[in-house]
Amino acid sequence: MGTRIHDDKLELIRKSSDIVEVISDYVQLKKQGRNYVGLCPFHGEKTPSFSVSSEKQLYHCFGCGVGGNVFSFVKEIEGYTFIEAVKKLSERANIPLPELDDVTASKTDEQQEMARGHDLAAKFYNHILLNVNSGKVGLDYLYKRGFTKDMIDTFQLGFAPDSWDSLLNFLDKRKCDPKIMEQGGLLSIRDFDQKYYDRFRNRVMFPIWDSQGQVIAFGGRTLGDGKPKYLNSSETKIFSKSKTLYGLHLARPHIRKENLAVLFEGYVDVIAAWGAGVPNGVATLGTSLTEQQAKIIRRNAENVVVCYDSDEAGVQAAFRAASIMEALGAYVRVATLPESLDPDDFIQKYGAERFKTDVIGASLTLMAFKMQYLRRGKNLQDEGERMRYIEEVLKEIALLPRPVERDHYLRQIAEEFSLSLDALKQEQHQAFRAQKSSNNPKTEQQKQTEPKRKSFEKKKLLPAFHKAEQILLAHMMKDADISDTVQQRIGGQFNVDEYQAIAAYLYAFYAEGHYPDPAQFIQQIKDERLVTLATEIAMMDISDEISGKELDDYLRKIENYPKWVEIEQKEIEKKEAEKRKDVLLAAQIGMEIIKMTQELKR
Ligand code: GTP
Ligand code: MN
Repeated sequence: MGTRIHDDKLELIRKSSDIVEVISDYVQLKKQGRNYVGLCPFHGEKTPSFSVSSEKQLYHCFGCGVGGNVFSFVKEIEGYTFIEAVKKLSERANIPLPELDDVTASKTDEQQEMARGHDLAAKFYNHILLNVNSGKVGLDYLYKRGFTKDMIDTFQLGFAPDSWDSLLNFLDKRKCDPKIMEQGGLLSIRDFDQKYYDRFRNRVMFPIWDSQGQVIAFGGRTLGDGKPKYLNSSETKIFSKSKTLYGLHLARPHIRKENLAVLFEGYVDVIAAWGAGVPNGVATLGTSLTEQQAKIIRRNAENVVVCYDSDEAGVQAAFRAASIMEALGAYVRVATLPESLDPDDFIQKYGAERFKTDVIGASLTLMAFKMQYLRRGKNLQDEGERMRYIEEVLKEIALLPRPVERDHYLRQIAEEFSLSLDALKQEQHQAFRAQKSSNNPKTEQQKQTEPKRKSFEKKKLLPAFHKAEQILLAHMMKDADISDTVQQRIGGQFNVDEYQAIAAYLYAFYAEGHYPDPAQFIQQIKDERLVTLATEIAMMDISDEISGKELDDYLRKIENYPKWVEIEQKEIEKKEAEKRKDVLLAAQIGMEIIKMTQELKR
């Protein structure tokens, strides 16, 4: 796209978009010294290595190497192009960008049209439910199930009438391309005559939104016992089940505020919980929790309560979801429901208050939940069953990564069954070793969440020179005079190609009359790899001042580096000569090496 935004406008938008504020919409940041830190949203991690500088208006992850300014962040996190990121931030900052009116954030024409179709369909279904006679069965159904008008409005519930062409006609009047509507999952196509018809009929409609609140799919529930109970949109260009969480855009502010997300299995559970005063709930879409969904949750909160159905399938799914969240460093608790109820059933039966106190409030740690589960159906008065229980619990305890946790539960067991703590510890050790040798799957999972480095391949360089070039560049980014000094003395003679390129950009930046401003500076760099590197350097924690002597030391290290390389080369030649038993040549090279080294040390 040939759209150009004037540099001044770009700067205005960038300066009006405080990086700490923008990133805080996605990541929980805590102030730490000069910077803000949080868990990197670009890779799974348990300890924060993602750093944001308000002063420099840059972010950088020491774990996976990503970094940049506010534009880069929005681009990366939303999967936008640069222009789309600028557009989003301009809207946020209320800066009109008429030159971009024909560019719409992130979506192709087709995706846009699908999204428009979904908006229209959601309004249509909602209108039918609330105002039209054919929707009355749907409304009766919802009210009978305990839904309120508030819930219907907030979650934009609707009804698809029992007709083959009502949505079809509605979309047709609004000039929606039926082919795209079919690809988007709103319409179906009849095999024998290729005619389009409504995909959802006679169902209560639950719109599904993306993280920004755009309707991208639907779940449609039958009124009775028809199959399938829920007809869900299939995967389309705007909807991916594994990356979507039901209710996220509504729950997100609450999740962030409370630093706690509640994870449910069903749409209805999210809505019922919302009605019960638990607004921080989200749900997967009929599949088990995926890594991507877990990361989205983790990005928004440190604490998660898994609140799944209490049947066997629900318990197993809760274990799985809880382990995934734990592997991402979340503090997980599992809520338990009595009598095979699901959260919605419980709220209908016992009310909001008991749901909050007895279910969410009484949630257990994953280990306590496992212990409760292992107890089920066992008669602990029976010695054999008791031993079996203890053995199973010890196996679980052995899997706990933190010694304090292991100790806590071991003590608990020792006390409950009047056993010696030492004996339990020994048994637990054995269980641990047995599991280690049988290669338990948990380590696999942990491996997966380790930071994936995507920064540049470090060259084999003597670290001193490498570091000197970085520190020098960091000072140059802060101070134009230092940059001038360096330019006069070594110009482009940096030893690392990438640093040489960054220096060239920096000289040009100052030559254009700019003041030091790392976030503006990296905006000038065209190569993304260099942007990341320059950001990393700008984020280095260097002293405010640099003395003339220090500066000189760094420059000398840089100037001398090629000579050290030459010496290294000579060492190799010398070794080769020795191998060939060419004593004379070896001695000669040895002398040269000594001479060169002495010169360098002088
Ligand atoms: P109600 O029965 O209306 O209370 O819904 P529920 O949430 O109790 O249903 P359930 O626990 O059976 O299902 C939980 C989630 O699984 C739903 O929200 C749907 O996302 C999904 N789901 C349930 N049944 C089906 C189905 O038949 N097909 C598909 N594709 N998804 C389903
Ligand atoms: Mn239910």
